Amino acid sequence: MTGTRQDVVLRIEDLHVEIRKAGYAAPILRGVNLTVTAGRVHALVGESGGGKSMVTKAATGLLPAGGVITQGRIVLDGEEVTRYGESSWRQLRGSSVSMVLQDPLTALNPVRRIGSQIMDVLRLHRGLRGAEAERECIRLLEMVQLREPARVLRLYPHELSGGMRQRVVITMAWACRPRLIICDEPTTALDVTVQKQVLRLIHRLAGEGQGVLLVTHDLGVVAKLCHSLSVIHGGRILEDGTVEQVYAAPRHEYTRALLAATPRFDRPDAVLVPVADELIDRLDAEARDYDRRRAAPA
Ligand SMILES: Nc1ncnc2c1ncn2[C@@H]1O[C@H](COP(=O)(O)OP(=O)(O)OP(=O)(O)O)[C@@H](O)[C@H]1O
Ligand SMILES: [Mg+2]
Repeated sequence: MTGTRQDVVLRIEDLHVEIRKAGYAAPILRGVNLTVTAGRVHALVGESGGGKSMVTKAATGLLPAGGVITQGRIVLDGEEVTRYGESSWRQLRGSSVSMVLQDPLTALNPVRRIGSQIMDVLRLHRGLRGAEAERECIRLLEMVQLREPARVLRLYPHELSGGMRQRVVITMAWACRPRLIICDEPTTALDVTVQKQVLRLIHRLAGEGQGVLLVTHDLGVVAKLCHSLSVIHGGRILEDGTVEQVYAAPRHEYTRALLAATPRFDRPDAVLVPVADELIDRLDAEARDYDRRRAAPA
């Protein structure tokens, strides 16, 4: 084994994505670089519209209509997937990469019992059937700390609370044992106490050797649960590093602004400062400049 190489579960290099619609192309990602390592939680943070979800969509082959990768590459578990079509992606989703989205209801089929949905995953990805599948299903539900797993198996999604549903979705993402789990704002739809439990669970997943890419706009969560982070704005990664490095000595003004806008449990009296409009205007102007330079002939 070549050590670190094998440990990288996702490598995104110089990724450029644009959305093309009726004679018009909008740049969305502008040269994104990002690496997720096995056994680690990497956070992708930034304000709304920065391109966080677009990164996760590119890394799962789910770009929206008109979305095109114009430059760069995506390597998933050692396999270059940049130009993969839907049929190749279908084989990778679940086996190499799984997604946990904001709203667990969209990931669950409302008219099927929880047990049959998890068992589908176990059959499809791990060839488990019958009593063996059921045993594994219960074991997984216990692992995500759902009480009375045997009863939960027989319930329908609407009979569960939001937090329980998200645990089920995480169970399904985890059941296939993908190398990488991407969680896009997994707790935004949950209430605060449940959020913490679900985030701790995600952290534990990484402890099992999976790589986790966690999208969030909550820098408090990142400080507690993640190992490293990338800060994104205007489709550009403005800063990245380990949590210790970035929090102790943020290099980019935008990172400093995000930190100043985040409540900190160790400094409850600190005054929170919202990110200044001026800074955002300046960053947006830089992004437009970048687009102009790229469009200009060399
Ligand atoms: N289907 C689409 N068609 C055109 N533009 C899109 C589409 N989806 C997203 N965008 C644009 O791409 C940019 C990045 O969006 P993205 O959803 O990745 O942001 P985000 O960082 O995930 O934001 P949020 O925190 O609100 O989820 C935004 O400017 C958005 O308007
Ligand atoms: Mg998003």
